[in-house]
Amino acid sequence: MYSHFESEQQTQFTADQPESSTTIDGCTDLLFLHTEGKPRIDTGEKSHTIEEMARLDRLNLIGEMAASIGHEVRNPMTTVRGFLQMLRAKKELASFASHFDLMVEELDRANSIISEFLSIAKNKPSNQSAGRLDAVVDILMPMLDAGALMAGTTVIFKGGPVPPILMAERDIRQLILNLVRNASEVTPHGGQVSIRTYVEAGRVVLSIADQGPGIAPEVQHKLGTAFFTTKEKGTGIGLAVCRHIVERHHADLAFQTGPQGTTFYVLFPMAETNDR
Ligand SMILES: Nc1ncnc2c1ncn2[C@@H]1O[C@H](COP(=O)(O)OP(=O)(O)OP(=O)(O)O)[C@@H](O)[C@H]1O
Ligand SMILES: [Mg+2]
Repeated sequence: MYSHFESEQQTQFTADQPESSTTIDGCTDLLFLHTEGKPRIDTGEKSHTIEEMARLDRLNLIGEMAASIGHEVRNPMTTVRGFLQMLRAKKELASFASHFDLMVEELDRANSIISEFLSIAKNKPSNQSAGRLDAVVDILMPMLDAGALMAGTTVIFKGGPVPPILMAERDIRQLILNLVRNASEVTPHGGQVSIRTYVEAGRVVLSIADQGPGIAPEVQHKLGTAFFTTKEKGTGIGLAVCRHIVERHHADLAFQTGPQGTTFYVLFPMAETNDR
């Protein structure tokens, strides 16, 4: 497993590698999402760091707005939802049952969008303690397996034990779930999503690889922007949440993509080198 990364991808994380060390089977360089102005590794000329600060500001603003209006909007929604359920139970309105269900579902969807934004808005440092990434993946595997089963895909975890990092476990679970969900959504029926944990260039790396069609060049720089989605039923929040979680962990979020699939990488500092 590790040799795969050594031979094909280790060079991606090394600062002094020439650009020619990249691009395997039409795959892109390692492209970084927001890194909060920190020095980055092997960005190369093709790296995407465009408008990072502006995007962060925008995201923070959206988060603050969501935090302030979230509760106020939820209260009337809860009332409306309650009345809809009450009406749905009335015999004389039985023929409209499916309409009521749809209305309740849409309200629930709106509510979950608010919840996600509230989680973005919580930008204060979360309680972090030393923990192992591979242990978190292990805990999540039953849930990931169940999700994959429904999607007709398989999730495999090939990670070995890695040194501890400083983490807020709840956030890390969310990060993994969001990335695996994206990976499963593009992986064809019968395909496989691979999760790995390993150490490379002094950092603890989580990688999630899919067998999807890759990410089109024209949308790559938009990844992680709140509400950016190409999915009919997507909200475009998953990666925005990931970016915030990654930032709170002083980590980097990057991806490589090509016609054979996309791999997302989260590169964490090891616990002892983290200055928090
Ligand atoms: N593994 C992937 N392969 C291909 N495209 C991806 C992948 N991950 C993310 N994307 C692209 O990035 C967009 C944003 O992803 P993000 O997770 O933020 O939102 P979403 O999945 O569309 O909706 P949701 O809020 O439900 O997660 C997606 O709509 C898709 O176009
Ligand atoms: Mg998503």
